[in-house]
Amino acid sequence: MIDARKSDQPQSQPLRGVVPDEVLRHGEDVAKLSLRVADEIGLGAYERLVLAWGARIHDIGKARVPTGILEKPGPLTPAERGLIEQHPAWGVEMAPQSPIMVREIVLHHHERWDGSGYPEHLNGPNIPLLARIVAVCDVFDALVSDRPYRSAWSREDAVTYIEHASGREFDPSVVDAFMRVMNASA
Ligand SMILES: [Fe+2]
Repeated sequence: MIDARKSDQPQSQPLRGVVPDEVLRHGEDVAKLSLRVADEIGLGAYERLVLAWGARIHDIGKARVPTGILEKPGPLTPAERGLIEQHPAWGVEMAPQSPIMVREIVLHHHERWDGSGYPEHLNGPNIPLLARIVAVCDVFDALVSDRPYRSAWSREDAVTYIEHASGREFDPSVVDAFMRVMNASA
């Protein structure tokens, strides 16, 4: 999956050199939540280590997206949306020394269970498990965080969104584990 996307790589934007603080904060929180979900699923020590690594850097490719687009307070144009959707592939380029399972998290964290995600439109169990875990925790953390274009959702509303997207956007078994984590900390 990693090697399949070499020839059609889009032209990268220049590296800005600084990842916005919010991307770093988001990565840390997604990693913490992903590990709690991993505990529920019963992942082993190596997978947990890889998961924490990949979750922390999953959005590193956003360092190549112009700040004005990342922090735009209004709707994105199709061209701007297209640039943002390059961030998983750019992230893989920026982590050439990471283990392949880490790079799979970076590349596939926006895939969806029904195949409607990006960049490779993988579906179901074809999406690496660790990327499926990060996908759920990524969306949850994004929803409960303020964004330039909207205020943070309540925890309850975000949990309801995740639950309703099970089997469409997210792996149902990962959502089940996520719900157990949420119920345990309610
Ligand atoms: Fe992302």
